[in-house]
Parts: sequence; C-alpha cells; structure tokens
Amino acid sequence: MNNKIVVLESEKESAELIKTYISEIEGLELDKIFDDYDEGLKYSTDTIPHIVILSATEDTERNNKILNRLADIKINVIVLSENYTTNLVIQALRSGAKDFISKPIIKKDFIASINKCCKEIVKTINKSNIISIFSNKGGIGKTAIATNLAVEFARQTREKVVLVDLNLPLGDVTTFINIKPSVTISSAIENATHKGAEAVVNACKQYKNTSLYVLAEPIYMEESHTMTPTHIFKLFEYLRESFSYILVDVGTNIDKMNMKILELSDLILLVSIVNLPLIRNCQRCLDLFNNLGFDDNKTKIIINRYLENDEIKIEDVEKVLNQKIYWKIPNNYFTIMSSINKAMPVCEINENSNVTISFSGLASKLTEDIIAKDFISQ
Ligand SMILES: Nc1ncnc2c1ncn2[C@@H]1O[C@H](COP(=O)(O)OP(=O)(O)OP(=O)(O)O)[C@@H](O)[C@H]1O
Ligand SMILES: [Mg+2]
Repeated sequence: MNNKIVVLESEKESAELIKTYISEIEGLELDKIFDDYDEGLKYSTDTIPHIVILSATEDTERNNKILNRLADIKINVIVLSENYTTNLVIQALRSGAKDFISKPIIKKDFIASINKCCKEIVKTINKSNIISIFSNKGGIGKTAIATNLAVEFARQTREKVVLVDLNLPLGDVTTFINIKPSVTISSAIENATHKGAEAVVNACKQYKNTSLYVLAEPIYMEESHTMTPTHIFKLFEYLRESFSYILVDVGTNIDKMNMKILELSDLILLVSIVNLPLIRNCQRCLDLFNNLGFDDNKTKIIINRYLENDEIKIEDVEKVLNQKIYWKIPNNYFTIMSSINKAMPVCEINENSNVTISFSGLASKLTEDIIAKDFISQ
C-alpha cells in the first residue's frame, strides 16, 4: 500500500490547513494539491494514491461523479463540505466516500478520519507544540507567565523554544526579559514573503546562552496593522519547522487575529485571578471556545496571584467553571516586580522563591502531559 494523499481543494486557506495537518501525520505523504478537479481526478486515476481528499463544490452531480470514479478504483475518499446536512453525508457515503468532514476542519476530526482510512500506517505526532497564554482581560499576568514558562521550558527540555509576542499592537515581552532584537515580528513576516522560513527563524533572538529564542513585538503600533490571520498561519508554519515549543503571549481582544492564534494553538493556557468578574469572564471564554469547536482538553485554566486564604476557594471556582484548575501560581508581588524592574526571569532573581518553583513545576507538568499526549491533538 502506498502512503500518498492527493487533495482536490480550490480554497487556498483550506488547502494550506490540510497541508499542515498532513505534515503532522507520520507515515503519510502529501502528493499533490489540485484546484482543478478534472486534472486532480486524472492524476489520481493514473497514480492511485491511498487517499483522496475531495472538497465538495456546489455541483453535486460532479462531486458524485468524481467520488464514484475514485471509489471504483478502491481509493479512500474523504469528503469535505461546508454544507453539513444528514442527506449530504448519506449521499456522499453512498457514492463511495470513506468519511465526511465538515468545514471549517478541526484537526482532531481530520486525524480521526485519516485514521479510518489507514489504521495500519498512521501514527500521529506533533513535531512542535504551540502553547498560547491568553486572557480576555489585561494586566493579570500573561506576560509574566509566558516569559517565565518559556525560560523553564528551555532550561528543562534543552529543546529549541521560541517565545512569540503577539500581544498586538504593542507587546511587552522585551520589558520582562532583557533582549534587544534587531528584527520584530512584523518585519520578519514581511521579509518572509520573499525569503520564506529563514527570515522568520533569523528574526528570533537567542536569550543569553540558552535554547530560548524570542520573536519580539513590533516597535511601533502601526506596524501591526498590516498583519492578517494568514500571516499568523504562515508564521506558525515557519516556526514549527525549527522549534519544539512555541509559546505565544496573546492579546486580550476577541478578534479575528487572536481567534486564529488560538485556533492554531495545540494548547491554550487561559489565565485568571480568583475574583468574581474575572471568573465570569473566564467562563465566557470557555463557552466561546466550545462554540468555536475547540477540544475541551485544549484549554487549561491557570490561576495567577493565588492566595491560600482567599475568601473564594479553588473548589468553588472549579464548580463555577465546571473544570479543574490546571495550575496555581502564588501571589508574590515583590519577586515579580523585582524581575520586571531588572528585566530578568524570576529564576535569575531568586531560584528558591515560591513563584520560581511554581513556574518550574508548571513547565514540567506541561512537558510530561505533552509527552504523554494527554491533551495535544488527540
Ligand atoms: N504571580 C504574581 N504575583 C504578584 N504579582 C503579579 C503576579 N503576576 C503578575 N503580577 C503583577 O501583575 C502585573 C501585570 O502582569 P503582566 O504584565 O504579566 O500582565 P499581562 O496580562 O501581560 O498584562 P497586559 O494585558 O498589559 O499585557 C505585573 O506588573 C505584576 O505587578
Ligand atoms: Mg502583557
């Protein structure tokens, strides 16, 4: 049995997404993507790939004709469609489709569908993990968590880690960690249109002598205005080629850009503080993620500035959110402020402080869970 996949898809963004998903599946090879279906059908009947992914068009008769032809020669066909109705699914399956996925494509569904077609050769892997640190309220510790966690990831795993400041329009990672990059995100993306992945990777500045790199925020607010969700997609694609862990400091807005970042993330650390309005906000975010079709396992709640004797107990927060708290970071204003003022991670300020120990524990729990694939792309 060969391991080739041919894709018939005329929408560019969807084709790119399929390409990324396939690249994360060990044992399968993306052969070709066609936006011309006749050409794609001819190529498939000549080469007999193991799987054809057919993005259905409005022309049902033509879809069925392609499907029948491919099914006749025993090719596994996965049909994609924006139009998810029971009738359409039944029709596709009757015409010989092996499976049906609705658009927008969710990675988990995609992998499950591929698995149906070739259980024996597919082993899902993640070459790298995108971990986004998010909250829809500002000032609650996203950057403190993102920077210190990134330092710990690099220290513990010794793998290449990149901290990306996507808190647009004005991020603040470089105020937490003393680094002076010559190129910022927006120029890296601009250069990438000509020079590809190399431009993005070269823009990541190494932190001291460690395996941590930083892709810094734009210097001027207006620089970020030219960035689009497609740029984000490309940026992650390039970073995935070089880094094992990609940590993203995300902005607070619920907008297209941030939703794209979260959608493309393997894991979201949703940061909150134990206070009622923020917990309510956190609940709203969880509802939103659910409506967007994110896997329940993808979002982990991190409580920052935790106080043992807080009036509101963690159990109460868990009850309200109907989810376990993944990690609690203690309140330690003195160490955090000292680290910000000196632009150093907390481990360089005081390796025995409770926040240093907490960031270290969080990094090791996350890496263990990622290795155990407890939540990533299952
Ligand atoms: N664990 C902690 N203990 C005590 N204070 C903390 C802790 N974490 C963060 N802080 C305080 O909260 C402030 C805001 O933190 P930070 O800048 O990381 O938040 P943010 O969510 O990134 O904010 P923004 O939305 O402005 O980017 C810090 O200046 C620090 O004073
Ligand atoms: Mg910040």
